[in-house]
Amino acid sequence: MLAAPINPSDINMIQGTWRTEAVFSEEELITVPSDIPLQSAATLGVNPCTAYRMLMDFERLRPGDSVIQNASNSGVGQAVIQIAAALGLRTINVLRDRPGGTMVTYGGMAKQPVIASVSQLIFKDLKLRGFWLSQWKKDHSPDQFKELILTLCDLIRRGQLTAPACSEVPLQDYPCALEASTQPFVSSKQILTM
Ligand SMILES: NC(=O)c1ccc[n+]([C@@H]2O[C@H](COP(=O)([O-])OP(=O)(O)OC[C@H]3O[C@@H](n4cnc5c(N)ncnc54)[C@H](OP(=O)(O)O)[C@@H]3O)[C@@H](O)[C@H]2O)c1
Repeated sequence: MLAAPINPSDINMIQGTWRTEAVFSEEELITVPSDIPLQSAATLGVNPCTAYRMLMDFERLRPGDSVIQNASNSGVGQAVIQIAAALGLRTINVLRDRPGGTMVTYGGMAKQPVIASVSQLIFKDLKLRGFWLSQWKKDHSPDQFKELILTLCDLIRRGQLTAPACSEVPLQDYPCALEASTQPFVSSKQILTM
C-alpha cells in the first residue's frame, strides 16, 4: 500500500467498528496501472467510479446535455465535473443547495431528509433516485468493475481526470488527518501515505 484517502464512509466506519485485516480472492483485486499519478490512483476506486456510474446509469445523456449537482466541491463533485466535460456534458455546480431534474442522491453529509419540490414532482415529473457504489459492485461482475477502473485510468492519462485537491499526511500523523477530514469547508482529501 502506497497511499489511501480518508473518505466520509471511512469516518462512518471507525465511528462503528473496523478491521485490521482482510482476505480477498484474486479476482476481487484489480492491478492499478503504474503510469497514473499516486493521488489519482489512491482516490480512483470510490469517488470517480461513483461519478462515472451516476452519469451513465440514470439518464441517457448526450453531448451538450446539462447535469446539475450540489456538494460540487466534494471529491465526487470534482470527478463529476471532469468526467462530464470529457463526455461533452455541461455541468451546473451548486454549493450547499439543492438542484432539480432526475435527482440522484448518493450521500447524506447534511444528515437531513431529502425534500423534493411538489410542483417539480407533479408538473416536471422530477424523478428521485439513489446510488450506492457498494451495491453497484455487488450487482456487477469484478470484470465490469475492472472495465470501469480502466476507463477512468484512460481519462487520467489523457489529462481529463485529475485527483481532487489532496493533502498528503504520513500514516503516523493519522489523528491530524482524521481531524482535518471532518472539518467543514476544507475541500481537501486527506491522503495517508505509507
Ligand atoms: N453512494 C455511494 O456509492 C457513494 C460513493 C462515494 C461517496 N459517497 C458519499 O458522497 C459524499 C461525498 O463524498 P466525498 O468523498 O466526495 O466527500 P468530500 O470530498 O469530503 O466532500 C464532502 C462534501 O460535503 C459537503 N458537506 C459537508 N457537510 C455538509 C452539510 N452539512 N451540508 C451540505 N454539504 C455538506 C462539503 O461541502 P463544503 O466543502 O462546503 O464543506 C463537501 O462538498 C459523502 O456523503 C459520501 O459518503 C457515496
